[in-house]
Amino acid sequence: MEIVIAPDAERCSIIVADIITDAIVSGAATLGLATGSSPSGVYTELISRYRKKRLSFAHVHAFLLDEYVGLPTGHPESYAQVIKTQFAEHVDLEPCRVHSPYVKDTDLFEAARRYDTRIAKLGPIDVQILGIGVNGHIGFNEPLSALHSRTRLKTLSEQTRRDNARFFDSIDDVPQHVITQGLGTISEAAHLVLIASGTQKAKAIAAAVEGPLSASCPASILQLHPHATVVLDEAAASQLENAEFYRYIHDHKPSAQRY
Ligand code: GLP
Repeated sequence: MEIVIAPDAERCSIIVADIITDAIVSGAATLGLATGSSPSGVYTELISRYRKKRLSFAHVHAFLLDEYVGLPTGHPESYAQVIKTQFAEHVDLEPCRVHSPYVKDTDLFEAARRYDTRIAKLGPIDVQILGIGVNGHIGFNEPLSALHSRTRLKTLSEQTRRDNARFFDSIDDVPQHVITQGLGTISEAAHLVLIASGTQKAKAIAAAVEGPLSASCPASILQLHPHATVVLDEAAASQLENAEFYRYIHDHKPSAQRY
């Protein structure tokens, strides 16, 4: 695993945007998109590069990691809607190329299987962006998710519903169920790029990076992946102990802006 520690969240976003831009410029055609606050600065940076005509997404297929079950179509917190308003509608990514689990199906188990098949057919995903929950979840793979799990229906933990309540009027409005790509599905992406900032993520990051590979911390599957990059600000890295193995970036602004 490559661990990159930058001074602040803004610099982390630029580093991840550089990884995605390099991949797309080199011909990558499938992107895995995550929601939550962690990657939002990455999307802002990518939009800015698109507007400066340094980047096009016209040939890209994008796959969302997960989706809530039970929200009305177009609900502002449905992940399909979040990706649309935060990113897709601002770049040349056609709506039909943005894929997410179809949660209106009467058979949600079958809908999850179909999504997994679509990823396999159009994939493998070249670069998968990931955030991390304070309990170590990625996508919506809560602790004790099987390490080889496929896309499936999951029940959210109370912790995750509490954490995500900030996006809703109250915790009662946070759906109980989701469809999420499984840990096995996520692991098939060629490059996993996890971004995290803030002290509230420090414990989960220490468990994922330096703890044992364990279903108790789903993000620890990155340890098994042949190409995983973890981009952290100093606060999120504050509980890591093996500082000498990590790459520190000290300048706040990129010395040479490549894009
Ligand atoms: C949700 C998403 C995850 C995300 C996590 C952390 O649970 N399903 O993909 O990583 O939230 O979100 P944030 O970045 O807002 O802390």
